[in-house]
Amino acid sequence: MERKDSQLAIQRIASKWEKTIILRQKELIRAYIPETRKYTFEHLKEMIDIHGLVYVKPDRGTYGNGVMSIEPWCDELEPESPVQYKLRFGIQSELYPALEELHAAVSERIDKKFYLIQKGITLLTFRRRKFDIRALVQKTPQKTWETTGFIGRVAAQQKIITNYHGGGSVMPIEELLSPYLEAKEYLQLYKEMKQVGILAAAQLTRKFPNLKEIGLDIAIDEQFKIWILEVNTLPALFPFKKLQNKDIYKKIHRYAVAYGRLKK
Ligand SMILES: Nc1ncnc2c1ncn2[C@@H]1O[C@H](COP(=O)(O)OP(=O)(O)O)[C@@H](O)[C@H]1O
Ligand SMILES: [Mg+2]
Repeated sequence: MERKDSQLAIQRIASKWEKTIILRQKELIRAYIPETRKYTFEHLKEMIDIHGLVYVKPDRGTYGNGVMSIEPWCDELEPESPVQYKLRFGIQSELYPALEELHAAVSERIDKKFYLIQKGITLLTFRRRKFDIRALVQKTPQKTWETTGFIGRVAAQQKIITNYHGGGSVMPIEELLSPYLEAKEYLQLYKEMKQVGILAAAQLTRKFPNLKEIGLDIAIDEQFKIWILEVNTLPALFPFKKLQNKDIYKKIHRYAVAYGRLKK
C-alpha cells in the first residue's frame, strides 16, 4: 500500500562506510575525515601504529551502541614494562598484553558484523568529560543548504561516547569552547564548522538528491582542528529546542515543515 507520507521521500543512508566513501571523494572534505577502514586484524595493527588512539564502531550503529576505543597503554609506575593495549567500551576498560588477544576480544564483541576502524580524535573536555558537537544542516525553502544549529554534547563520566542515548548531556557550544578560545578564534571555528556542514551536505546530495537534512558529529581536537566523526541522515531536532536562543529552533522547525519532516 502506498503511504502518502512525505517523510518517505526524505533520503536516509544508514551505512557509515558508504557515506565516508562519498565524502572523501571531495578533496575539500577529505581533510576533515579521520582515516577510516574496514575492521580487520591487519588494519587494527596498522591503524594503532599510525594513530595510537583508534575507534572501532559498527557500520550501521546508532546512539553510540557498539562503539569501542583502543589505545596503547604504559604503566607509569613501571615505565620499563612492555606496552599494553587498553580497550574501552561503555564505562568498562580492559588491558591486553598483545594485539592478538586484543583482537580476539574485539572480534567477540563484533560478532561477525561489519565494523569500521577509525583514527581516534582526542576530544576536548568539560569538567573532565569528553565533548563533541552536533551540527544540523538543512535544505532551506529556497533549496540551498544552511547550517542551522549547533549543540554541544558532553559524555557521561568515564564514557567514550557523547550520545544523548548513552547518558550524554547537551550544552551550548559557546560555553564548552569559551575556556579554550578567544572570541575571534571561536568565530573563525564557528564559520568553518558552518562551511564544513554545507560542503558535506552538498557532496552527499550529488549521490542522494533527496537528502533534506543531515547531522554532523564534529570533533574538535586539542589543536582545534575540526573532524567529521560521522554524518547522520536522520538527525534529532529536539535537542535544539533546549537552546536559549529560541529563534534557532523556530527556523529549524520552519525548514523541517517546508520539506515535510515535521507538521506545522
Ligand atoms: N574517531 C573518533 N574519535 C573520537 N571519538 C569518537 C570517534 N568516533 C566516535 N567517537 C565518539 O563516539 C560517539 C558515537 O560515534 P558515532 O560515529 O557518532 O556513531 P553513532 O552512529 O553510534 O552515533 C561520537 O559522538 C563520539 O563521541
Ligand atoms: Mg553519532
